[in-house]
Amino acid sequence: MDHDVNGAVRNPPTRLVVGISGASGVTYGIRVLDALQDLGVESHLVVTRAALLTLSQETDFSADDLTGRASVVHKLNDVGASIASGSFRSLGMIVAPCSVRTMSEIATGVTSTLLTRAADVVLKERRPLVLMVRETPFHLGHLRTMTALAEMGATIAPPLPAFYARPASIEEMVDQSVGRALDLFGLDWAPVKRWDGLKGPISE
Ligand SMILES: Cc1cc2nc3c(=O)[nH]c(=O)nc-3n(C[C@H](O)[C@H](O)[C@H](O)COP(=O)(O)O)c2cc1C
Repeated sequence: MDHDVNGAVRNPPTRLVVGISGASGVTYGIRVLDALQDLGVESHLVVTRAALLTLSQETDFSADDLTGRASVVHKLNDVGASIASGSFRSLGMIVAPCSVRTMSEIATGVTSTLLTRAADVVLKERRPLVLMVRETPFHLGHLRTMTALAEMGATIAPPLPAFYARPASIEEMVDQSVGRALDLFGLDWAPVKRWDGLKGPISE
């Protein structure tokens, strides 16, 4: 994030880089794009090949249905794209969902695609990087990789349901996770149900 001498954010950009990788839950990425549209935030999308596979297995969406929701779509192998440079200002980057493979590549800095290069750039520029890592169970290597990323400044934000929000559908459950992840960029998306303290009689 760029700051002026007083520590305030300088001309904050209204664009977010969005990576969608091949973990289960491609719908999280779809809803991130929808949310950014709602919020008037420019989205810069990069999608892995495995994500197109999960898209075909988990939804009835075509690749065009997905990319049509983004403001700008970048090719996975285009390491010369704007988002590959730290000089391209953004609010940061979200990877939704984030596969173990993509997470591990980001952690090493050995970035072979535009998605992981863009994430590396966001880290080096000290901008927020939010990884909605989805795998279960985790082995020790996964946990160590997440620790390393947290130490580098990334936020590990697995899309876990918030039952206190009483979701009535999978869509509401997904939107709650997406909205809470966008909170990490200071973006307030209307569908988020916020905790407002305990209600009703509480038995001891
Ligand atoms: C239907 C489906 C679901 C998958 N779910 C996950 C998952 O939840 N987490 C994960 O790390 N990998 C998952 N994978 C495996 C990844 O797609 C695979 O490791 C791939 O190489 C990831 O590549 P990417 O990081 O470039 O997207 C899944 C694959 C398929 C086909």
